[in-house]
Amino acid sequence: MNSSDNPIDRVLVLEMVRVTEAAAVAASQLIGRGDEKAADAAAVEAMRKAFDELYMDGTVVIGEGERDEAPMLYIGEKVGGAPGTGPKIDIALDPLEGTTITAKAGPNALAVLAAAEEGNLLNAPDVYMDKLAVGPGYPEGIIDLAKTPTENVKAVAEAKGVKPKHINVCVLDRPRHAPIIEELRAIGCGVVLIGDGDVAGVIAVTDEDTTIDMYMGQGGAPEGVLAAAALRCVGGQFNGRLLFRNDDERSRARKWGIEDLDRIYTLNELAKGDCIFAATGVTAGSLLDGVKYRRDGRMTTESVVMRSSSGTVRWIKGEHNR
Ligand code: FBP
Repeated sequence: MNSSDNPIDRVLVLEMVRVTEAAAVAASQLIGRGDEKAADAAAVEAMRKAFDELYMDGTVVIGEGERDEAPMLYIGEKVGGAPGTGPKIDIALDPLEGTTITAKAGPNALAVLAAAEEGNLLNAPDVYMDKLAVGPGYPEGIIDLAKTPTENVKAVAEAKGVKPKHINVCVLDRPRHAPIIEELRAIGCGVVLIGDGDVAGVIAVTDEDTTIDMYMGQGGAPEGVLAAAALRCVGGQFNGRLLFRNDDERSRARKWGIEDLDRIYTLNELAKGDCIFAATGVTAGSLLDGVKYRRDGRMTTESVVMRSSSGTVRWIKGEHNR
């Protein structure tokens, strides 16, 4: 596991959790305050600062937007305490995945990041992505975005040895998903509607305790790459196709080197090689507990860090002074 020429080895995998912890703790101070922007800004600033402690020459490939849109953690920004000397690592991040959730004190807000060797994460522009995911244990290729929701559910149900009516599908609760929801309900599926937070929604398919078998629908493309990095570590299958609403979005994609705009990406095309996924809960949810402030003046965090090459998943409970 400690082979020397893998740049990931030279970054302390566990150290990644400090970065998501810092962002989660900062955002947690704004839970339920009704201010999405302030919560996001606090998480961004804390994450940016925490990166400085890591020995790496990091580049943000998925971040808070383009340079002219975001003051910090913009795409292309260098992060890490060893520019030019440390291992070259690409970072996909979302300091606060679930800004609305945080503002409303709902479930499943996370601070998340994925890291991989330079060039191994899809440089997804901030457009929508059509997503389809299923947990581990199914034959490779069981899901296919080119097929209908009904066809995909039937394939998964057959492989699971149940009827389609026993399959639960998680979908973001948005008007644009009305046709999918109608189709799924028509074949008897349980549709688990979430208000926000599709990184946690996709990861939920990997945990049988959630009872969610599949994830379907359109959400942010950056969140798709982050979720794909997690599935690379814990298993499961994912298909993603970028969706463009106008020429500006198409030209953004071309700018980041994406030529085939209709391509359906599988897991290994979104996050290649050895990658790390780290997340800390901001509010409690299906994946992680949220930040809690205790009566003794300390606070607790819950995080997970996973690595694809080893398949190691570490759950980390932190206790911190306020
Ligand atoms: P933010 O944290 O940026 O608010 O994203 C939350 C989220 O629900 C993502 O999980 C999801 O991918 C995206 O928004 C969906 O976008 P939209 O709200 O436009 O449907």
